[in-house]
Amino acid sequence: MAFDLLNLIADHRSENYELYSQHVNPQFTKVLKTIGFDRIYERGEGAWLWDVAQRKYLDMLGGYAVHNAGRNHPVIRKAMTDWLSTDSANLVQFDAPLLSGLLAGELTARTGLDKVFFTNSGTEGIEAALKFARCATGRPGVISCQSGYHGLSFGSLSVTADENFREGFGPFPSEFRSIPFNDLETLAEVLSGGDVAAFVVEPIQGKGVNIPDDGYLREAARLCRQHGSLFIADEVQTGLGRTGSFLAVDHDGEVDPDIVVLSKALSGGYVPVGAVLTRDDIWKKVFSSMERSVVHSSTFHENGMAMAAGLSYLSVMDDENLMERAKAMGGLIRDGLESMFEKYEFLKSVRQRGLMVGIELGPPKSLKLRAAWKLVEKMDRNLFPQAVVIPLLDDHGILTQVAGHNKPVIKLIPPLVIDESDVNWFLEGFDAVMKQLHRFPGPAWTVLSKLGKNAVTRRDRS
Ligand SMILES: Cc1ncc(COP(=O)(O)O)c(C=O)c1O
Repeated sequence: MAFDLLNLIADHRSENYELYSQHVNPQFTKVLKTIGFDRIYERGEGAWLWDVAQRKYLDMLGGYAVHNAGRNHPVIRKAMTDWLSTDSANLVQFDAPLLSGLLAGELTARTGLDKVFFTNSGTEGIEAALKFARCATGRPGVISCQSGYHGLSFGSLSVTADENFREGFGPFPSEFRSIPFNDLETLAEVLSGGDVAAFVVEPIQGKGVNIPDDGYLREAARLCRQHGSLFIADEVQTGLGRTGSFLAVDHDGEVDPDIVVLSKALSGGYVPVGAVLTRDDIWKKVFSSMERSVVHSSTFHENGMAMAAGLSYLSVMDDENLMERAKAMGGLIRDGLESMFEKYEFLKSVRQRGLMVGIELGPPKSLKLRAAWKLVEKMDRNLFPQAVVIPLLDDHGILTQVAGHNKPVIKLIPPLVIDESDVNWFLEGFDAVMKQLHRFPGPAWTVLSKLGKNAVTRRDRS
């Protein structure tokens, strides 16, 4: 019988975890089962997901900031099916694809940069940016920031300082150094060595949702110019409207990055794509002759379907005022959370720009809760925020994440299409979870203690 995808899906309905454990990643399925995240999602629309039992969930994770336009947006979906209906001459390789030129034109017009190199992912974008910077400057060094994240392929991992990702994969190039985020003095000092090709930085660090001081990005870019190094803005997560402007560097005035890396939301949630935007003079140093016209390339980097996804996402972003919406809805979330500060002593701060939100938790004041907090922290530093994330999903149908290893920060990066009623759904759920957590002893602490014992037993065994 001819292959039939829908039949295949129907024949294996609900075998997800069994098959995934057996053939893909049993460690990850164990994690999901341990925290009760082993749902079988079947359908998505806008900011909502439905599982096989038809329970609905508000997606405040947005596929790690991929679904800015919401899942299965009709305009983007139509672009996908339209593209398939053209019987296109896709991936000829020895041609100049129309959609690549059109998407590159849109991106350069929106950023003032001159040329675009397309990739299949964020990490590939960082790889390209690092190569371009070395080639254009003739220098070996790269500076990045501690607690930053730029991807996990070798070059991008070399600028991701987090040991949780690095362990077992070193050594890394000694010319690559990491410095504290938001620290201009150290940046100036390292740049003054004169051997630095580039400083690569996220305008807002995704791990932890760390927002730098006003003026930091502008001054960092100026220092780079002064010392002949390039400023690479990693906007893989923050770009494309997420923070309320097209690029997050735009919040800091005239930053004028030399290279900008985009990905995630450009996919429209359908087809992997990334884009490295740069100036002509940098581009010309890399692709300096006909012999070098494809000196950096990748088989799928201009896949027509990915280009169509990017074009349609940008059009939806404009037509639905997603940047304005991100600003407005992010503001409502922030106000709602800040109004809870007085009631809940575990709440420490809210870091928010557009729809990139970090809710920082910390030690309480009252003695009884403080003792419980300390006990949980001693068992496992990653545990406490799970007492928020787990009941948000279980009891309130809200999908969120912890912002990184050893960070008591809950992160929200929902689709930019959320509306006021979605915001209220989130705030009500969050309020209820906080209320539970401030009741000790109580069910939230029982869950934590169970998870903690699991973690300790796992550590003892390893
Ligand atoms: C800021 C940033 N840079 C790079 C990457 C890597 O992108 P990808 O996962 O597509 O390789 C990510 C992914 O989360 C990211 O957030």
